[in-house]
Amino acid sequence: MLEPSKNELLTQVGRGTPMGELLRRYWMPIAAVSEFDDESVKPVRLMGEDLTLYKDLRGTFGLVDRHCPHRSADMSYGFVEPCGLRCNYHGWLFDHDGRCIEQPYEDVAQPEARFRDKIRIKAYPVQAHAGLLWAYLGPQPAPLVPNWEPFTWKNGFVQIVFADVPCNWLQCQENSVDPLHFEWMHMNWSVRLAEKSGPYSPRHLKLAFDEFDYGIVYRRIREGMSEEDPLWKVGRVCLWPNALFTGDHFEWRVPIDDQNTLSVTWCFSRVPKNREPYVQQRIPSWRGPVRDAETGRWISSHVMNQDFVAWIGQGIVTDRTREHLGTSDAGIIMMRQRFLKDIEAIARGADPKATIRDPEINQCVTLPIADRKRLVEGMASEEMARNPLGAGRLATDYIFQAGQPREVRQAYAEAMGLGE
Ligand code: FES
Ligand SMILES: [Fe+2]
Repeated sequence: MLEPSKNELLTQVGRGTPMGELLRRYWMPIAAVSEFDDESVKPVRLMGEDLTLYKDLRGTFGLVDRHCPHRSADMSYGFVEPCGLRCNYHGWLFDHDGRCIEQPYEDVAQPEARFRDKIRIKAYPVQAHAGLLWAYLGPQPAPLVPNWEPFTWKNGFVQIVFADVPCNWLQCQENSVDPLHFEWMHMNWSVRLAEKSGPYSPRHLKLAFDEFDYGIVYRRIREGMSEEDPLWKVGRVCLWPNALFTGDHFEWRVPIDDQNTLSVTWCFSRVPKNREPYVQQRIPSWRGPVRDAETGRWISSHVMNQDFVAWIGQGIVTDRTREHLGTSDAGIIMMRQRFLKDIEAIARGADPKATIRDPEINQCVTLPIADRKRLVEGMASEEMARNPLGAGRLATDYIFQAGQPREVRQAYAEAMGLGE
């Protein structure tokens, strides 16, 4: 149970709030590079700030205020130039750093006044990496965009998947350090959803949570598992500050504002050995629905949709004064305590946990991965079909989220050599 003031402290993400300032010390994935194949300007909302993300004609990405500093027109209806974004109302043009570089009328009527030199639009750095667009809203100097180990892997088909989840980010992230829900929410409930009764899946017998440089590792023993199992020896990762990492995919819970979260998944599927060398030309991205249009209920057919049901069900900002934490929640307590300590750390002027500034380390940031060998070295198709993990990955259906577009499914099937 948490006192109301702590709940507010940990959940509020606006500028000037302690948690909002802490989260601004990290690069946040906010969109996919491939979204800009057909469009060049897009409105985004991040940590309560309304912004405009764009790709200019030279291919450089920028992130500026949603409103023009002249008379507040909506910059997401602006248009791009070789350098920067131009407001569609009176044509003021802004570069990536937020400098006003043209005011078409003022530049002619009163060039000597150089009015434009006095004008700036709010602008934040944005970087493309691993098919994602990352934004940094914190103080300079910014840390590096983390080059997590899977971003360096070869011979994989990657897809990026979004969902708009109408609740606060922290309850989503608490799910990243909650191994127990796997047994009930994903295993037992899925069986009941398929209208089958039958035995429950193996129970969790033992859980362990350990903090490391880039997050918290959680480990589990279920009935029938030995202590040699990679899920006990290596475990899975609650990745700092707002993601889950399971080995083949990342799930970020990006705060849109206090009441909404953007779920961003980066999913790597290793192609079978017999399909190598495989070089992906374009990383596709798509947005899946959260609500069933016919029934109005939340979708429950896929793994992450089930998670969304839990998170949204907890309330828009869950009331932690009413919770009763058990021993299974030790990781959640660990996470909250670390956030509270890091709020103090940044107030002292120190870097918070898991900010990376050393380019040497950032060549490839390794993480605990239970089945690295399968993901890096790959397996032949037949071997994959026999392997309990590999078989799931060979299915044409995307198991994590509902709504995968047909063309992405086709590209995946082609990469994996399915249906030949
Ligand atoms: S409002 Fe943007 S140029 Fe006038
Ligand atoms: Fe889950």
